[in-house]
Amino acid sequence: GSISIIGVPLHYGADRSGVDMGPNAIRGANLGGRLEALGLSVHDAGDIHVNRSLGDFGPVSKLKYLHEIARVNADLAGRVTRELEQGRMPLVLGGDHSIAIGTVKGVLQYVKRLGVIWFDAHTDVNTEETTVSGNIHGMSLAVLLGWGHPDLVAVAGAATKLNPRNVAVVGARSVDPGERVFLKQQGVRVFTMHDIDRCGMKQVMEEALEAVTDGTDGVHLSLDLDGMDPNDAPGVGTPVPGGMSYRESHLAMELLHDSGALVSAEFVEVNPMLDVNNKTAAAAVDLIASVLGERIL
Ligand code: ARG
Ligand code: MN
Ligand code: MN
Ligand code: MN
Repeated sequence: GSISIIGVPLHYGADRSGVDMGPNAIRGANLGGRLEALGLSVHDAGDIHVNRSLGDFGPVSKLKYLHEIARVNADLAGRVTRELEQGRMPLVLGGDHSIAIGTVKGVLQYVKRLGVIWFDAHTDVNTEETTVSGNIHGMSLAVLLGWGHPDLVAVAGAATKLNPRNVAVVGARSVDPGERVFLKQQGVRVFTMHDIDRCGMKQVMEEALEAVTDGTDGVHLSLDLDGMDPNDAPGVGTPVPGGMSYRESHLAMELLHDSGALVSAEFVEVNPMLDVNNKTAAAAVDLIASVLGERIL
């Protein structure tokens, strides 16, 4: 197999700097070496350009940095589609979770019926109406379901969206009141930490995979490192206690690999400025290797 690494040094969706250094922190944790050891052919496509100086890109109404985030995501979507067309699996490194808009819409141009595993402490389904923070990284899944600011929904075409029946959030434990209503209305499957505590990761992933593979032609992994417990992944901007352990996260990746359905993946919200001994970047590389087939024996 052939993998294409795409970095997206974007922090505007989180409105906090440091996460823009995520792509290089993950690369620096020996990502290339680990993937080559799996026999994969690794191509690093470099980083998507992000405008450093904000200039005119300040807050537009409630949505912070809307213009630049929409522009970067449109660029990313095109790149992701091209990599797929060339037979390479896109591996996108964030950057904050607003980049899922570009990644997933790029994949949807190539795989029309796409399932998504959204590994996260949060559900990221706020809209302009429900957001408290105004941070677009808390809105990306809503946008991908067709709900949100028109400039974001329009990325790669407004018709490019997910079927909520084929989306499974895994690891949720911080859901805003407006998000609860939205999730119920849409029928998105949400596997909370409560479900993982009760049933174990094996059963949760089996149910999640069932939902995302039912009637689809492939599955995308959108993995927010804050889904992991902050003890195992401290370098994130919005940590929430009580998360998925290193082992649970690892098992989830192995089961997703074994499904044979993975077509693309992204790893987001690694913030090296908040990290401890590069633990979070190293965890990201371990999870990437696992989802791409690394095994103990
Ligand atoms: N729900 C909160 C918000 O909308 C937090 C979102 C955190 N999202 C993330 N991708 N880390 O602001
Ligand atoms: Mn999150
Ligand atoms: Mn997220
Ligand atoms: Mn492993």
